[in-house]
Amino acid sequence: MALPRITSRLFPKGSLRGIRNAFPSVTATIQPFSLFPARKQAGATRKTEPLVGLVKARRTIYQLGKKSPVPDSKIEELVNSAILNVPSAFNTQSTRLLALLHSVHEHLWDVVIHVFQNLVKPGAIPEQVWQTQTLPKLQGFKAGVGTILFYEDPAHIKPFSEKFAPYKDQFQPWADHSNAMHQYFLWTGLESLGFGANLQYYNPLIDAPVVKLWDIPGEWRLVAQLVFGSPEGPPGEKSQKPIEERVKIYGKQEEDTSTSTG
Ligand SMILES: Cc1cc2nc3c(=O)[nH]c(=O)nc-3n(C[C@H](O)[C@H](O)[C@H](O)COP(=O)(O)O)c2cc1C
Repeated sequence: MALPRITSRLFPKGSLRGIRNAFPSVTATIQPFSLFPARKQAGATRKTEPLVGLVKARRTIYQLGKKSPVPDSKIEELVNSAILNVPSAFNTQSTRLLALLHSVHEHLWDVVIHVFQNLVKPGAIPEQVWQTQTLPKLQGFKAGVGTILFYEDPAHIKPFSEKFAPYKDQFQPWADHSNAMHQYFLWTGLESLGFGANLQYYNPLIDAPVVKLWDIPGEWRLVAQLVFGSPEGPPGEKSQKPIEERVKIYGKQEEDTSTSTG
């Protein structure tokens, strides 16, 4: 642990830039972390590879079953980790999570089915679409283990909008960004526990019955639903647009391999 401290004492933050500008040829090989690059890189790779592995493994899985790979306490730990560790703008902590498991999860999807059935009767959804598409899809969600519902509590956003007037219109989108980070963390986290999951948006159709059934404050805003269960089928094909169209990098430095021991 002492080594980074020695490095930063020798080369305080930003000082290398000035030295490099003054003596470009002499300092061409000095990099901020060039003293022990191989060790540094090995340590970094050790942490990054499992992370990228999980990010790659997270996919949309629609075929879900009830074979839970972990006890419910692990799901609870993961949900609590999201609430404690996912960041929010100005640390507003406005995201709220409702996790429904097993029979309670099934009850949710029975309610959703009921809400949609009421749209079929007056013809808002054609009977054939209901029977062949909507109902099988909803039953597929019900076949899973649980659903996490993501909410925003506006009571924790409004004071910030009032206090920081120049940003007042930004707090709502920032709250949605943070909410989406919770969604992504939990989607990937559930994958890490051995579940498959998919993300749904049945709000605002289901807002009212959910509020009533699970004692949700009426002012909370439902944002999304993450359905999960044992993965019983593969993810679909996924095309990728070229990276070059989507990423720009400027100022990238070539790796210094001269001090690397391999
Ligand atoms: C913001 C957002 C909204 C989405 N909405 C839905 C949705 O309403 N229904 C659904 O089945 N999938 C939804 N998805 C899943 C995407 O269709 C899916 O993530 C995308 O096609 C990439 O596939 P992958 O998840 O397997 O990587 C949503 C994903 C995101 C990020």
